[in-house]
Amino acid sequence: MRILITGSNGLLGQKIVYQLLNAKEVFLATSLGVNRNDACPTDHYCSMDITNQVDIERVMKDFQPTHVIHTAAMTNVDACELDPQTCESINVSAVRYLAHACQKNGVHFQMLSTDFVFDGVKGNYSEDDDPNPLSVYAKSKVEGEKIVSSLTNLSYSIVRTIIVYGTGQNLSRSNIVLWAKEALQKGQELTIIDDQFRAPTWADDLAWACIGICRLNEHGIFHISGPETMSIFALVERIAKHYQLPMSQVKRTDSSSLNQPAVRPPKTGFDLSKAKNRLGYRPMTLEQTLDLL
Ligand SMILES: NC(=O)c1ccc[n+]([C@@H]2O[C@H](COP(=O)([O-])OP(=O)(O)OC[C@H]3O[C@@H](n4cnc5c(N)ncnc54)[C@H](OP(=O)(O)O)[C@@H]3O)[C@@H](O)[C@H]2O)c1
Repeated sequence: MRILITGSNGLLGQKIVYQLLNAKEVFLATSLGVNRNDACPTDHYCSMDITNQVDIERVMKDFQPTHVIHTAAMTNVDACELDPQTCESINVSAVRYLAHACQKNGVHFQMLSTDFVFDGVKGNYSEDDDPNPLSVYAKSKVEGEKIVSSLTNLSYSIVRTIIVYGTGQNLSRSNIVLWAKEALQKGQELTIIDDQFRAPTWADDLAWACIGICRLNEHGIFHISGPETMSIFALVERIAKHYQLPMSQVKRTDSSSLNQPAVRPPKTGFDLSKAKNRLGYRPMTLEQTLDLL
């Protein structure tokens, strides 16, 4: 395999780079601007703006990948709601450029997507459930998925995931688990919603699944998340309990009180049967990962 990664400065991108280095696979890591991942050797890195079609074609021609793992995205859901044009450019047009380049060169294209493609009424979603996106971000991901799945003769996979967490270097944003752990340690006041349910995903498990799909020549949609769905409040409670930190400074709230620009699905979570059967996916429990955080 020759794997080209987009978004290698992001949380998932960094984990994929780490695992490919350990496995001595041939890869090229790309992201916007300079390499911010110290673990990624400079000769394995090249800057690539995914909104620039010429940039993409140059890098594809030079590196000649067999697989593209596309993790880069505009991932801040509220920022997407407030700036739909930039969201369209990063999450939709870029997917079009990359997918067309892969189609032209016979390269497998893997796109990262989200549980937010669903409306969150049913929960425990399988790959066969119908999307019903509620926000600009969610609609942009569904649009990207449609582009990818409708191109003829494109070998592709779509990996949907849920709240990705872990540690990384010089990340442009934190994640709920890391943030809650640090805030609890500092004894800060936290207000946490108890009416949204998610299955948080350890970034290393997700990276393993993304690479596994490429290795096994798998195709189509895969749901990859942590093993358990819980409310965000219950997640913070479990983090506090694990590190023996007090919950006295943590208040409950609900989605309607938060006034966030983007609507979130109330209950997601995935049926992981396909990933378990086809990839041998065995995600770690929350507590196992907290020991490593
Ligand atoms: N994180 C989650 O909870 C979550 C949940 C569901 C789905 N997903 C999906 O999973 C994927 C990976 O998520 P993540 O948490 O690793 O995201 P992340 O940490 O936000 O990383 C995304 C990366 O994309 C880069 N990027 C943004 N615009 C770019 C451009 N024009 N050209 C090149 N690179 C660009 C960002 O660069 P900068 O670092 O310079 O900003 C960032 O490094 C995304 O597709 C996301 O939609 C994530």
